[in-house]
Amino acid sequence: MEGSDKALSYTRVELTDFEGVSLVHFITDNWENIKNFKARPDDILIATHPKAGTTWVSYILDLLYFGNTSPERQTSLPIYLRVPFLEANFPETPSGEDLANKLATTPRIIKTHLPVQLVPKSFWEQNCRVVYVARNAKDSAVSYYHFDRMNMISAEPGDWNTYLQRFMDGKTMFGPWYNHVCGYWEKKQTYPNLHYMFFEDMVEDTGRQLEHLCSFLGLSTSTEERKRITKGVHFDAMKQNKMTNYSAVPVMDFKISPFMRKGKVGDWKNHFTVAQNEQFDKHYKEKMKSTTLQFRTQI
Ligand code: PPS
Repeated sequence: MEGSDKALSYTRVELTDFEGVSLVHFITDNWENIKNFKARPDDILIATHPKAGTTWVSYILDLLYFGNTSPERQTSLPIYLRVPFLEANFPETPSGEDLANKLATTPRIIKTHLPVQLVPKSFWEQNCRVVYVARNAKDSAVSYYHFDRMNMISAEPGDWNTYLQRFMDGKTMFGPWYNHVCGYWEKKQTYPNLHYMFFEDMVEDTGRQLEHLCSFLGLSTSTEERKRITKGVHFDAMKQNKMTNYSAVPVMDFKISPFMRKGKVGDWKNHFTVAQNEQFDKHYKEKMKSTTLQFRTQI
């Protein structure tokens, strides 16, 4: 069985509440190992709420560190093996913490969707660099909806209206979104090694964000190299690239939706009805009333 046919043979899972966070048993079953993960001081953690541009920033970091020294990585290893997903523990694949433990690179670049309070404490103790990427809630919800439709081991998404309500209720995996983005925003106030980025800024000017990233990471790169990376990580290039487009992942049914879907700011306008938008805005205002964090829903 291959591709889409294989994807249909998977069983969707139920979400469970784990300390106020929506997770699945695959993750909580392995919790002791995740919690006790031993970070090293030079590890770099890419943290995001799902669909905020994790793959984009993972690829950028991989190119920055290993693009010149190990060019063969770019054609032989899919991005999710170069940048392991720490808490992943899904059927038929090695667990993320196992992959991370076996990573032979220095630094190790590791991805997580865990909210700040569930990040293994060794990352903070070792003062690791953390790159957090945030994306506005409306586009995050839309992107996540299409992802949960095509990822056959996600919880059943239902129709868009049901899904949006679940997103607002924090009942999508790794939710609530509100606590996730605000949690890392607050952490940044006391933990200087956290770089907080926005998907919208990346779309607006990838090159500029790349400069900021290099400065945070203490990397000196030439203008030429930054231009080359910016070109290589463009949406169209990543969508065509088999190592970054997730096309080899059997649980994903690309007939339903591609992983690299649109890569735009403002696609929510094609999904939200006027009523949904009004209800969402009202709820959002309440949820975000005590933070200084601001998002752009269009650029
Ligand atoms: S995941 O599953 O959480 O790791 O997904 P993640 O990589 O965070 O997010 C996927 C969304 O990011 C978009 N994307 C990009 N947009 C613009 N340019 C580039 N290079 C790029 N790479 C990934 C991807 O298309 C998903 O967003 P949507 O809105 O669904 O297209």
